[in-house]
Formats: sequence, C-alpha cells, structure tokens
Amino acid sequence: MFTIKEPNEKVIAFISTNHPQTQGLRLACWTIPFEYNGVKLMKNTLTGEIVSLTDEEFAAPEKVLELAKRRFVVPDDYDETAQYLQAVKLIRITQPESKGLKTYTILPTTACNARCVYCYEEGYPVKTMTKETADKLVDFICETRQDDEITLSWFGGEPTVCADTISRVCGELESRGVPFKSKLITNASLITKQLAQEMKRVWHLKNVQVSLDGSRRDYMARKQYINPVKHNYDTVMAAIRYMADEEIKIQLRVNFDKGNLVDMQSFIDEMEMLFGEYDNVRMYLYMLFQQQHKSDCLDVYKDYYELLLKNYDKRILKRKSGKSEFRTNYCMADNLDKSIVIDPQGAFYNCEHLPGNENSWGNVFDGVTDQNVFDELCSPSDVDKKCVGCAFLPQCTRFYRAHCPNSFDYCIEQNKMKTDFELKILAEQLLQHELSDKRK
Ligand SMILES: C[S@@+](CC[C@H](N)C(=O)[O-])C[C@H]1O[C@@H](n2cnc3c(N)ncnc32)[C@H](O)[C@@H]1O
Ligand code: SF4
Ligand code: SF4
Repeated sequence: MFTIKEPNEKVIAFISTNHPQTQGLRLACWTIPFEYNGVKLMKNTLTGEIVSLTDEEFAAPEKVLELAKRRFVVPDDYDETAQYLQAVKLIRITQPESKGLKTYTILPTTACNARCVYCYEEGYPVKTMTKETADKLVDFICETRQDDEITLSWFGGEPTVCADTISRVCGELESRGVPFKSKLITNASLITKQLAQEMKRVWHLKNVQVSLDGSRRDYMARKQYINPVKHNYDTVMAAIRYMADEEIKIQLRVNFDKGNLVDMQSFIDEMEMLFGEYDNVRMYLYMLFQQQHKSDCLDVYKDYYELLLKNYDKRILKRKSGKSEFRTNYCMADNLDKSIVIDPQGAFYNCEHLPGNENSWGNVFDGVTDQNVFDELCSPSDVDKKCVGCAFLPQCTRFYRAHCPNSFDYCIEQNKMKTDFELKILAEQLLQHELSDKRK
C-alpha cells in the first residue's frame, strides 16, 4: 500500500487514529474503493487521502492495520456522522480568525444588459444602488470589518453596469485606509481596456469569473444582449484578454446543458488556443440549474465527464489540486459571522441567490432589523437526514436549508461520477508511470 494523495493534516489532527485491533472492522462510509485496469485505489473523503493497494489489501481492507489507522476502515459500531461533526467543530474553533466580517458580496445593481435565456434572476425587480446607499455601505463596511484585509465580491445583475458605483465605494475605502481586494462575477461585455486598468488600480481586482455559454453560436443564442452589435462574443473575448494582461486571475465559467455540449469540444479547443498560454486564465464547465433538475441530468453528466477525460491534459482546464476538499462550511450562507450579501438598496441577505425581501434581516441604514431571522440563520444546522451516512458529506454540505438553488436531486450519483473521474485520471497516470518504468 502506498499513498498517492496526502491526507489533510488538520482533519487528521482531530480524528482519533487509535485502532489497536483488526477485528470487528468495516469500511468507513466515506471510503470509496475504485478499480481500473488492474489499478486498485481507495479514497477517504474525510481526510482526502488516496492510497494504492495490492489485490490482497483491496480484497480484505479490514485486515490491513494501516487502513484502520488512517480511518479507511472503522469499528463496526463507529459513528461517522458524529466524528465528522466533531472534526468540523474543532477545526472551526481552532482557526485563527480575527473578529469582524471578512467578505462582502455586493450587488450594485440587479439590472443586466445580457438577459441570458436561462438566468435564475429573470423577473427580479430592477434596483440600482444610489450614491447615498453606496456611501452608507462604506460606513457599514468600516464599522463591521475585520482588521485584516477584507474581500469585496461584486455580483449582480451585471455589476459592471454600475462600474462608477464600484469605483466610488473602492475609492472611499482606499482613502479611509481599509485594506481590501475585489472579486467580480461578470458577463465581461462592458469591460474595455481602460476599465480593466481601473479595475486593477482602483478596485484592487484579483479574481474575476466570466460567465460563458460555449461556442459563438450557442453564446449568441443564449445571451440576448440589448445591443448585440456593441456587446457580443468578440467583445467578451477581447475583455478577457484585457484583464489577463493586467494579471488578474480569470475563471471562465461555461454554463452547459445537453444542447450546447454538442459543440463544446471545438469551444475548448478555441479557448486553449486563445488563452492556454496564460497562467492566469482557467476554465470550468457548470451544469445549468434547469438541466440539473431534468430526468436526463445524469446522462448529460456522463457526456460531460467523458469530454473532460478526453481533454484532461489541456492547460485551460487544469485545476490546482488542493490538499483536501474537506469543508467546514458549505457556502456564504452558513458563514454569517464572516460573510454578508448586500443588495442595491443596502438590504442584508445570507445568500446571493435569495434576494426576496422576506429573506432579508437588516440593512446598512438600520443594522439588524429582524433578530429572529438573523438568529435562526446563525444557528448551527443539523446534518440533513438525506446526508447521514453519505460518502460525500465531508466535501459537500450538512447545510441544507429550504430554497437553496444548489440543492440537487442527483447529488450522490454526480459526486460519485466526479470522484470516479478524479481516480480514473490518477489510475491512468500510475499505469503510464509503470509503463515508462518498464521501458527503462
Ligand atoms: C446571476 S449571474 C450575475 C453575474 C453576472 N451577470 C454573470 O452573468 O456572471 C451569476 C452567475 O449565475 C450564473 N447563472 C445564472 N443563471 C443560471 C442558471 N439557471 N443555472 C446556473 N447558473 C446560472 C451565471 O452564469 C453567473 O455565473
Ligand atoms: S449576464 Fe448574468 S445576470 Fe445577466 S442575464 Fe446573464 S446570468 Fe443573468
Ligand atoms: S447533499 Fe447529497 S452528496 Fe451532499 S452529503 Fe448530502 S446526500 Fe451526500
């Protein structure tokens, strides 16, 4: 047995590895065995560790003491959920964090010039931030921020419709000596060379996500720009280059469903050609929520993973392999002591997907106005019934509140496909290694 991917040391530190005996043991629920062309692997989703095993070890893992020590196998009466919750709690309370908010997700407007046919914001009332609200927002940030650098995440609508508001807020924070950096989620159609320079200089923009839709034809069919002569596929490609030249890190997010997957290979090739040379431009594909809820969802995921497998050596698709995906909180919504969402009228939310008034619990003018909603949101949530015993819980979420648009009927199957994809690539690499060793 040997380790291919090291475990997360923080998690390891908080789980007991004291297993004196090899009797009465079974595979832990978070252990995923995987076999491919004779290669035998196991992944532990709690610690993130991946090991390669011999045929004998793979056939009877409960007899391997080392696997017991590393929590791939556990005693019959072991309570995985309790152990997981314990690890989350201990990691959270031992994280050295300064007091105050760290991330402000701000919607300067809900207006948008692109009108994507699938946008989940369709029908939201159009609201745009006034100068008065922007100035009050600056005061609010100064009063509630942590001492260390804060992050402003600019969201919308299309945030660059209100680039002047963003510059106003950032300029004021700068003059008050607040250390900050920005992130931006954008369709990029309004970004000129000049704006890209301002974004870097005034907004302190470090990361941007540009939302795309695949090939030129699919892009123009799915975006319904108000002025398609001025704002279109070519403007967006030029904008990506302007930002890349400013050394801003760029994630190209390509929304997909069954329809635009057909031309995705040629689109990947085009992006590789245009941006593969940039170290700061990467791309990933994301299934549209509408497709996630259709009955052919898993078939489409299958096609998607086959496409990824064919393209896994493309620079544009390379992702940093993190140490472990263990999550102590799922998203901004269960991290209220560190993160807040603020809409164009200055109203507070815990999630960028929930801007209906009924979900708000305060605003920049009056602070917290509904203590009950706020307290409810801050209270720790239990592990959802559906997630108890699920192999993917440590890298997924126990947080499962109503209305989350990321709730997903086929989550387990999709996570399994994702893990199989990761392990298949590792197995391929091992086989190629063996082959080249034999040739030497
Ligand atoms: C609502 S947009 C706002 C920011 C900006 N206008 C943009 O498009 O990037 C935020 C993100 O939601 C994504 N999005 C919108 N509707 C979606 C849907 N139905 N399914 C999945 N993602 C969606 C967009 O592609 C974008 O990445
Ligand atoms: S660009 Fe963004 S906000 Fe605008 S319609 Fe498309 S997804 Fe929605
Ligand atoms: S949401 Fe789905 S994949 Fe995630 S832990 Fe729960 S059951 Fe598992």
